Amino acid sequence: MSKQRLPVSSGSGVNGLHGGDVMKAAKLYGGEVADWLDLSTGMNPEPWAVPVLPQTTFEQLPYEWPEFRRNAIAYYGREQLLAVAGTQAAIQALPNVLPCLPILLPGVGYQEHHRSWRAQGAEVIFYPSLAEAQACTAIEAALAETSAQHLLVINPNNPSGLTFAPAELLRWAERLSDGACLIVDEAFIDVTPEQSLLSHVGAGHDWPENLIVLRSFGKFFGLAGIRLGFVFAASALREALERWLGLWGVNGPAQYVASLAFTDSGWQQQQRRLLPQASSATRALFEPLLSLSNDYGEVRLQAEKPLFNSYVMSSELALELQDFFAKQAILLRVVALDNQRSLLRVGLLPSCVQRQRRVRDTLAAFIARKNKIDDIAHRVIG
Ligand SMILES: Cc1ncc(COP(=O)(O)O)c(C=O)c1O
Repeated sequence: MSKQRLPVSSGSGVNGLHGGDVMKAAKLYGGEVADWLDLSTGMNPEPWAVPVLPQTTFEQLPYEWPEFRRNAIAYYGREQLLAVAGTQAAIQALPNVLPCLPILLPGVGYQEHHRSWRAQGAEVIFYPSLAEAQACTAIEAALAETSAQHLLVINPNNPSGLTFAPAELLRWAERLSDGACLIVDEAFIDVTPEQSLLSHVGAGHDWPENLIVLRSFGKFFGLAGIRLGFVFAASALREALERWLGLWGVNGPAQYVASLAFTDSGWQQQQRRLLPQASSATRALFEPLLSLSNDYGEVRLQAEKPLFNSYVMSSELALELQDFFAKQAILLRVVALDNQRSLLRVGLLPSCVQRQRRVRDTLAAFIARKNKIDDIAHRVIG
């Protein structure tokens, strides 16, 4: 296997691997793609099981199927939706259809938002996004200075786990001036739908003109490959987005699969129970990481979320871990926080015992190696 390291991706920059790029990892480190264990994403490792699809879903041009729309409305509980080919498509399109105003973005967060607004030439202002109090203070201060700016919130934040109360978000939306929007990316909220803004925006009332909520199908259902997401917004904005995105955005198989998955409420309830358990089990498995705290600066758990965990540590340690795991064909994600610290994001482990053992053994070997290096160093110094 090659000695080349995976690139670190910056929280606000544009370099680095996307989560889940096992192809690239296998190219760098070797091994069969199928043998890699991907812990670099925040996707449900036990996806909704896709049945055999009718041939017609592939044959017909994918105009929106009424049943697909009906089932999506029933699942999300709001009808002001536009289906898109993954929220990524909306993230790329939004700066083209919204007024060109400065935008407040989380300093650490899914970097495609930054990339899209930057590409449109918008002025980007970052707010801290590791701790709630700091984030709120910075957003309040920025809004006090001017209300003529968009505000983007990832709730919960990937990868920092930061969450905001819906009431707080709606208060901020009210303070924005005409044309300025609150965009809330809820890609990871499906396990706790009661925290979604969709549960808090008055049912039966008009959708607030300046509120945009993004929902991703791929994370909770574990089916990112079908490329499906939803934009909830006022009708004028949905129409503008639809015009910009063009015809046949959501393919027929995706509409068919999602229609079925949306109605499988038994599976959804089961996952809402199981995913937090899988997340705590993954945290317990990675607990030994915290023992590296003293010698390598602080290692702390930043977030335990239903679809991922994240740890703050020195960038040196995070990259060593990523490299060590990649040599065992296990992919982790490192996001740079600043010149010295990084965030290590760990996706949920599948329930397969062998795979869990592989991760436990790899972590134990890493810690043993670090302790051995320390012992030698102490003996040399002593
Ligand atoms: C916060 C966030 N929003 C949106 C996306 C894109 O998701 P989708 O698969 O719906 O395009 C991601 C992907 O990782 C994400 O982390």
